[in-house]
Amino acid sequence: MTATILDGKATAETIRQELAVEVARWRDAGGAIPCLAAVLVGDDPASQVYVRNKQRACERVGMVSQLHRMATDTTQQELLELIDRLNRDRDVHGILVQLPLPRSLDEQQLLDAIHPLKDVDAFHPENVGLISQGRPRYLPCTPHGVLQVLHRGGVTVAGREVVVVGRSEIVGKPLAMLLAQKNGPLGPEMANATVTICHSRTKDLAAVTRRAEVLIAAVGVPQMIQADMVAPGAAVVDVGINRTDQGLVGDVDFDAVKEVAGHITPVPGGVGPLTVTMLLHNTLTAAKRTRETAG
Ligand code: GUN
Repeated sequence: MTATILDGKATAETIRQELAVEVARWRDAGGAIPCLAAVLVGDDPASQVYVRNKQRACERVGMVSQLHRMATDTTQQELLELIDRLNRDRDVHGILVQLPLPRSLDEQQLLDAIHPLKDVDAFHPENVGLISQGRPRYLPCTPHGVLQVLHRGGVTVAGREVVVVGRSEIVGKPLAMLLAQKNGPLGPEMANATVTICHSRTKDLAAVTRRAEVLIAAVGVPQMIQADMVAPGAAVVDVGINRTDQGLVGDVDFDAVKEVAGHITPVPGGVGPLTVTMLLHNTLTAAKRTRETAG
């Protein structure tokens, strides 16, 4: 059996077209042009590519973006001042500080400084708290992308065994939360899962992953998920983006696992394009919210 490919690139394109229509409608109704401000510190090549992709994607759906490029030796205080300025700028609706930051900086303090209403990454503790209570203000971009690629690929999670490998604050933890809750943002069929979170200290990881009807790999280890770790017919979502000597590879051994799985996302062209798309979705939501809160 060869798995059905869950085409994230095509799904992202469909959602971007929907968003472009929504943005045009919003602007026609007198709404401000949604604006995303990206803060990029240092010269990490991967981060530069990610930020450029986010900016381009904004422009293609009729939004605007600002890029605040800061030198590697920018101080914590300078960044706090920049974030404060962006928080108070009425033309800026969403703020994104690209991670990772240089090690000399206090990442948590900077992320916490972003105004929760402009926190389109959904990293602020207030927004994380709202997600965990099942009343999200913004959906975290990568977890939302995973839900979208499954949903639009016809894979539901309600009542099913879902195993998430990886417990990061950006992906694993918030995704597990969204999957387990009663009322999901994409409806009850995309929530109500029986969720297991695995990590580096999980005993007999393969025995746990083999239980999964839906397996999500977000662990950051190249090709860690092998065919013998996957139940026949399972849907496998690969969130990993690992740069290796062999090029870009995911957390799943795609060629081997596709012979076992029922559905699988490729890398590249899987969850990556959806992460960017869900950021655009949040930026539009932020722009709309600004008008609501301005009364
Ligand atoms: N670096 C890797 N993933 C992300 C993300 O989702 N948001 C931000 N701001 N930085 C990242």
